[in-house]
Amino acid sequence: MAISKTARPRTATIPATMKAAAIDRFGPPSALKLHTLPTPKPGRGQVLVALHTAGVGIWDASIRDGSWRPNGRPKFPLVPGTDGAGTVAAKGPGVRRFRIGERVLANDSGCYAEYVALDADGVGRVPQRLDFKQAGAVATTGLTALQGIDALRLRRSQTVLIYGASGAVGTLAVQFAKAKRARVLATASGREAATLVRRLGADAVIDARSKSAVEQLRKLAPDGIDAALVLTGGDSLEGCLDLVRAGGRIAYPNGVEPEPRRRPKIRLFAYDGEAGPREFAQLARAIDGARLRVPIAAVYPLAQAAKAHARLERGHVVGRIELQIRRGQG
Ligand SMILES: NC(=O)c1ccc[n+]([C@@H]2O[C@H](COP(=O)([O-])OP(=O)(O)OC[C@H]3O[C@@H](n4cnc5c(N)ncnc54)[C@H](OP(=O)(O)O)[C@@H]3O)[C@@H](O)[C@H]2O)c1
Repeated sequence: MAISKTARPRTATIPATMKAAAIDRFGPPSALKLHTLPTPKPGRGQVLVALHTAGVGIWDASIRDGSWRPNGRPKFPLVPGTDGAGTVAAKGPGVRRFRIGERVLANDSGCYAEYVALDADGVGRVPQRLDFKQAGAVATTGLTALQGIDALRLRRSQTVLIYGASGAVGTLAVQFAKAKRARVLATASGREAATLVRRLGADAVIDARSKSAVEQLRKLAPDGIDAALVLTGGDSLEGCLDLVRAGGRIAYPNGVEPEPRRRPKIRLFAYDGEAGPREFAQLARAIDGARLRVPIAAVYPLAQAAKAHARLERGHVVGRIELQIRRGQG
């Protein structure tokens, strides 16, 4: 069929305004309200993503209440949300890496919205095996889990402790560590969390809050543990980390408090999950290699972002909370 020179690929019309869950002031979960805002326009090097889902992270609560201000002086209305999944709706000048309509992961701020304009480097392709429900909850946490496990340089059969394994980062880190054929010892509280973490591949699960946590870990690893990924503070944390052998490694993403103590002869790494074309490609390979499952604890419509944050603040979320923005599983 001949295509006329003036033919253009068909793209959905982009409305002038969009719905977003935003705050007009720092505050409790109820500060998050549904707004109608101008749809952002992608600038040079940016893509406009039509979001289907957005992950709700524990750090989003700190942005909402103002206790963490990563971008300095806030501009209200402020749309939280550091990750989501959707399709490329438009491209600014100079973007060649993505096609209109392509399924993408978004990793930057402003994802509690129907559209977000992001630098193309903050966008990655959605791996084939993930639908939008799983993909919306994998960018920030997947990059953080993978880069933490990579920093530990695990070798086959080495023993790694994942402290805080039932949360958003931990559930993915367990699977990435198993993909490296490590022996994974994990902490999780309660039957549901322990069962999930075992199903994801942990070889043994202990309750970090139990008085005997350190003893249990010592019995599981009488010669010491080779490495630890720390995803939370906790009363038993330092006792557990005392079991890391000389020459071993401990990694934790910035945000974990209190920070683990330094120890002689043990490498301690604090890091941030980094995004970029290389990192997204590594994540996609690791997701396939681990046949990653992304546990979703609860899904709320965008209009109920305040309820999602109230649930987050009650704690003990097993996996990740998510917002559904558009219908369709991608
Ligand atoms: N710098 C970065 O790039 C970056 C990126 C992502 C995340 N982070 C940080 O990484 C950390 C983990 O994030 P996340 O999203 O996985 O958090 P999360 O979903 O809240 O998970 C936290 C985990 O820690 C456990 N936990 C909490 N308090 C505990 C205690 N007192 N004793 C033992 N276990 C406890 C939780 O289990 P229970 O449910 O039993 O409490 C859960 O398994 C956070 O500090 C976050 O800010 C940093």
